[in-house]
Amino acid sequence: TFEPLVFSGVQPTGNLHLGNYLGAIRRWVALQESSKCIYCVVDQHAITPPISVWGGPAELMRNTREVTAAFLASGIDAKENIVFNQSRVHQHAELAWVFNCIARMGWLNRMTQFKDKAGKDRENASVGLFAYPNLMAADILVYRATHVPVGEDQKQHLELTRDIAQKFNTDFSDRIAELGLGVETQSGDETISSFFPLTEPVIGGPAARVMSLRDGTKKMSKSDPSDLSRINLTDDVDTISKKIRKAKTDSEPLPSELEGLKDRPEADNLVGIYAALVDSDKATVIRDFGGQQFSTFKPALADLAVEKLAPIAAEMRRISADPGFVDAVLKDGGERASVLAEKTMHNVRDIIGF
Ligand code: ADP
Ligand code: NA
Repeated sequence: TFEPLVFSGVQPTGNLHLGNYLGAIRRWVALQESSKCIYCVVDQHAITPPISVWGGPAELMRNTREVTAAFLASGIDAKENIVFNQSRVHQHAELAWVFNCIARMGWLNRMTQFKDKAGKDRENASVGLFAYPNLMAADILVYRATHVPVGEDQKQHLELTRDIAQKFNTDFSDRIAELGLGVETQSGDETISSFFPLTEPVIGGPAARVMSLRDGTKKMSKSDPSDLSRINLTDDVDTISKKIRKAKTDSEPLPSELEGLKDRPEADNLVGIYAALVDSDKATVIRDFGGQQFSTFKPALADLAVEKLAPIAAEMRRISADPGFVDAVLKDGGERASVLAEKTMHNVRDIIGF
């Protein structure tokens, strides 16, 4: 079997928000207790939209440091784990090319995130935006990672990653066996020899999909033009309170049973955020707040959000005041990641015949 290893990443595209924190980063902190973890600032993914969107070199470097500071401020231990930015380890891009030749057009054509992000003007989207799930598969598989903690929006990309791993293992099975590079894995009743693991997504909890505060049908996102739609990790106390006060809701009180949240996406979202922030579940929040008006629940949620997020924002500011420290963390992490990634790529080159 493959050695358990956790990998995940966040793009340095500015506006790191509550969805990124509750859906991903906060859960990474919990996983580092039990597993070896690699956490990556995926700066090569950040340049897939037009340069007017990602902002150019100065903005990219600023955002890379800011996301790194957010990882550290949230409690990720960069000594016990590996924290680095993707572009330092060229093996990601090298493996992505191989995966460009493994993945089929039809597989990528099914990716809903491309359709969302490219919008109507598909002819003008970058090839990188289309192929980005292949690079994401390479990010994961260049470490032969077994588990990837992400938000629900990444589920389809993780399925693609498994399809790519499976096709690589099958296409090259004889060669993998001949070189003795396979790991014995169970496939139904059969034992097969695989080079890449079939990585498991780790998705779940009450904040697997945090929705926009302005529209309960859209996910909270960095790219939403309305700043009121999301709580940014760098928002100050007054801004957090204001955004929660202005969050769109219906006019009913909170239900007294969990089932009552069905078909009430805005209420469901706020209850889920509360539950995640106290490390609990929606049922417990409903037990405490069921029957109450939003005029009572929203201030409680705002206080809680401030209590949990303000220390992280303060720590981010403290860490960011020393960019040299952040750069040193990334350099050290990049060096350690390179050693692992090169081990895999050395074998991949042999397997393919390069
Ligand atoms: P974004 O989707 O905001 O552009 P990324 O693509 O960098 O951000 O995603 C970083 C991580 O945050 C991923 O694991 C993603 O699944 C998670 N994530 C993003 N938005 C949300 C959300 N609204 N709710 C829960 N998790 C989210
Ligand atoms: Na995302």
